[in-house]
Amino acid sequence: MFQNIPKPILNRMRLLEEIDRQDRIDGTPHIQRLRQIPPETGKFIALLAATAPPGQYVEIGTSAGYSTLWLALACRLTQRRITTFEILDAKAELARDTFRLTGVSDVVDFVCGDVRDHLSGYKDIAFCFIDGLSEVYSECYETVVPNLVPGGILVADNAVSHEHELRSMLENALNDPRVDALIVPICKGELVCRKI
Ligand SMILES: C[S@@+](CC[C@H](N)C(=O)[O-])C[C@H]1O[C@@H](n2cnc3c(N)ncnc32)[C@H](O)[C@@H]1O
Repeated sequence: MFQNIPKPILNRMRLLEEIDRQDRIDGTPHIQRLRQIPPETGKFIALLAATAPPGQYVEIGTSAGYSTLWLALACRLTQRRITTFEILDAKAELARDTFRLTGVSDVVDFVCGDVRDHLSGYKDIAFCFIDGLSEVYSECYETVVPNLVPGGILVADNAVSHEHELRSMLENALNDPRVDALIVPICKGELVCRKI
């Protein structure tokens, strides 16, 4: 999956990594920054997504589509599709560029809007990646978990970096009898849940 990343995807990943790196040092306002996951987290979620059982893949928080590209690699392996949600128009434009330039529309469906207006319509979820604002994590978690298929996987980013803001959601997940859950301390910390 990672040895032969298609050139258009690899080139776009490298460009977005460079923009994200610059964002973090040049004073770009928080709302405009891509705030994307690092490559190690991308590999981690793609590995998990590639092991997910049959069902839909969902991503909350597209930004410019960097994490979606990693998940698209897994989708091509498993022959699934991913639906990804982004609320901001400016980011949505970047994400559309990313998906057009990399040719991933065979596996990626993009929705521009507030994920909370759409998420309850997604059933039989096999894999979900939550990487939006901290405020939406709890609501998204509670909407997704009942709709995860047995063995379905939910990953939430920032479980260590934003531990304080996410504490009640994290405690809820770690004590949730519907899932096996733990926090994996790589990069910003990933909450990983598997539906029982
Ligand atoms: C941390 S960034 C996502 C980074 C992306 N996952 C990546 O690694 O490339 C969070 C994104 O979630 C979006 N977002 C926040 N609240 C949202 C909502 N309610 N619905 C959809 N997108 C939302 C933000 O606009 C922002 O672009």
